[in-house]
Amino acid sequence: MAGDAQMAGDVRMNVTCQSCGRAFETEPVTVYRFTFPADRVCAVCREAEAANDMDRRQRVLWDQVSVPKILADASFDDFEPRPGTRHALAVTQRWGDEIRRGGRPRRGLLLHGPPGAGKTHLAVATLRYAVYRERPMRAIFINVPDWLNGLRETWNKSDAPEPPNPSGYALAVIDDLGAEDSTRWSRERLYSLLNDRDQKELLTVVTSNLTPDALAASLGAAAASRLTRLCAPVPLEAESDYRTTTVEATA
Ligand SMILES: Nc1ncnc2c1ncn2[C@@H]1O[C@H](COP(=O)(O)OP(=O)(O)OP(=O)(O)O)[C@@H](O)[C@H]1O
Ligand SMILES: [Mg+2]
Ligand SMILES: [Zn+2]
Repeated sequence: MAGDAQMAGDVRMNVTCQSCGRAFETEPVTVYRFTFPADRVCAVCREAEAANDMDRRQRVLWDQVSVPKILADASFDDFEPRPGTRHALAVTQRWGDEIRRGGRPRRGLLLHGPPGAGKTHLAVATLRYAVYRERPMRAIFINVPDWLNGLRETWNKSDAPEPPNPSGYALAVIDDLGAEDSTRWSRERLYSLLNDRDQKELLTVVTSNLTPDALAASLGAAAASRLTRLCAPVPLEAESDYRTTTVEATA
């Protein structure tokens, strides 16, 4: 057995935690004639280290989601409940809760309503729940007009950076669908995007200023049918644009 590490049964030894300096008990491990402690840091510090590692991992993943700076802190907690958006807040929060608990909602969400109602805010709040959970999900935020512009640039210029491909992400927020200039080319790109998410059964949260009917007309029947299967419509009926209301309130 020479050379094998041996644990000495229920013998304990007192050591000083290398991280916090507190004394703690651990098992001695013997290799050849040398005995050393099985642990160098106490259980409290080990747990704290694991929590820090998790924090770091979640922060890195959150940065990779690429949420617009202005909404980087948006959460359910700072969403002010208002009559026209109370329902959407409740639905998205329930949906987010299921994700946070490690579950998987059957369908994604299509948040639709007028500008400044809080659609992107709620979509970002669901992303936060997906990343800041025990087993973080890979998630991505794309703004449709920006994403299409990025794609167009990579087609025209070989050195332009490629926009993210949402295909590899378990959750994608597809923001401002229907705000793009609708051309045959853009409809084909959006069809591919929705078809891919539908075929792979990937969770998708869409925001749009258009009603589901107007969106269907803009996307075309094939893409619209995939969108219907992917996302349950959730209306927001804000009586005023939150952007201008808050600007007026602080002016
Ligand atoms: N109920 C609310 N409570 C707190 N902040 C809100 C609320 N609704 C909107 N906001 C804030 O108002 C701003 C506009 O909201 P958001 O970007 O979510 O609107 P939107 O519905 O996506 O609009 P658009 O259709 O123009 O994209 C954001 O800064 C958001 O944080
Ligand atoms: Mg928006
Ligand atoms: Zn310690």
